[in-house]
Amino acid sequence: MNKLFYVVYETIPYFAVFSFAAVILLIIFFQKFKRGKTIRVILAVTLSVIFIFVTAFEIFDLKPLYFNSGAVVFAVEDEYQIAFSTSKNTVGSVKVGDSIFYDSIGGSKNVSTIHKINVPRALLDEEKSYTVECTSVIRNRAYFASSVGSVKKSYDFRPADESDGLRIFNFSDNHLIRSGVERTVSHLKDLDIIVANGDLFNDVSDEFQVTLVYKLLGNISDSSLPIIITRGNHEAIGSKLTSLPNYIGSYDGKFYYTVRFDSVLFYIFDLANDMSDSNVSIRSTANFDDYRLREIEWIKTLNGGAQNQLDGIKHAIALCHMPYPITYEKPYTKYARMMTDAAEHLGIDLLLSGHKHRTEFYEVGNYENAADHPYILGGKRSNTLEVDETIFADQFTGTYLIINDDGISASFINSKGEILQRFDNI
Ligand SMILES: [Fe+2]
Repeated sequence: MNKLFYVVYETIPYFAVFSFAAVILLIIFFQKFKRGKTIRVILAVTLSVIFIFVTAFEIFDLKPLYFNSGAVVFAVEDEYQIAFSTSKNTVGSVKVGDSIFYDSIGGSKNVSTIHKINVPRALLDEEKSYTVECTSVIRNRAYFASSVGSVKKSYDFRPADESDGLRIFNFSDNHLIRSGVERTVSHLKDLDIIVANGDLFNDVSDEFQVTLVYKLLGNISDSSLPIIITRGNHEAIGSKLTSLPNYIGSYDGKFYYTVRFDSVLFYIFDLANDMSDSNVSIRSTANFDDYRLREIEWIKTLNGGAQNQLDGIKHAIALCHMPYPITYEKPYTKYARMMTDAAEHLGIDLLLSGHKHRTEFYEVGNYENAADHPYILGGKRSNTLEVDETIFADQFTGTYLIINDDGISASFINSKGEILQRFDNI
């Protein structure tokens, strides 16, 4: 009986279609009676148009199937997490070599317009290409799921290669605006890694925002470079926050992790929101204090310094959207201090941050730097050092780094390709 009930329940939309069609036919049938004929014609035409659109787009979901964006390859620990967005609900997979990986949880494929699929880094580094595929799912109900139509797209992949120096572009705080960042990256050749250092969103409330972020990241990486992403405070607000680990690089539902490229180790930290959990605008749902305390305990357990050297690590770079060593920032002072102390044993060479919409370099000992390592504020929507923020979408300044045996060099480069400032031997 249960199955029968579900079949009846799930076929209600189809009975509705037939009922609606019957009403239209009845109206047309009564056209032969003269009184009120014009009104009946208008009614029949209007209902017919509604009937066609509702049937095509809502009942049978006949929208065209395509990828909304290029694929995005997030690097997290020993995985690449390949993400993409589709025009309608689909199931998705990634093929690397002969292996196929599915967006699947507990044995069931995830039906969604957003997919993120984990593949082993070693495999993709070796194969140097991958294919994403999605299949449209028209209805996904108990005892009644149907799929039709697939699209797929193949990409080359360029694993990071430090033989000529590890070349990194770091940006942050573009807040869904794409053109300035895209123009800046267009001046850089032979990049190995892109660091998306937070506040790419304004808030996380709808999947169209995720698609916009994928479009930017897919474009600037050509879907062929690894991207390391940090969570900014604007990715810590919005109604879809609990889905954020499914949208961007994350590890076990968290946005703090490590990732290593050859002799360079990245520590990805997350101060989450810039508001207290008790702030009236977020207190109903915020649980960031507990999250940050767990993260700080995790940082204390990490290898660093001498052990890193034994493991062949020559440089350690920390990434955190909000600059934890900053000495004058009030709302998150307590956890920033705890993070600064907890990270002291790691032997960090440089922290890349954003959040302040400025481009600045703070040496050790600077009165605005409480840490034992320098830090950079590395992204703003402006093309000059003097101005921090403009209204022009095509202006942006980010940070270009080269890491090699000689050390780390960092340059602030704008969307015209001009180097505004350069720091060597960091
Ligand atoms: Fe921020």
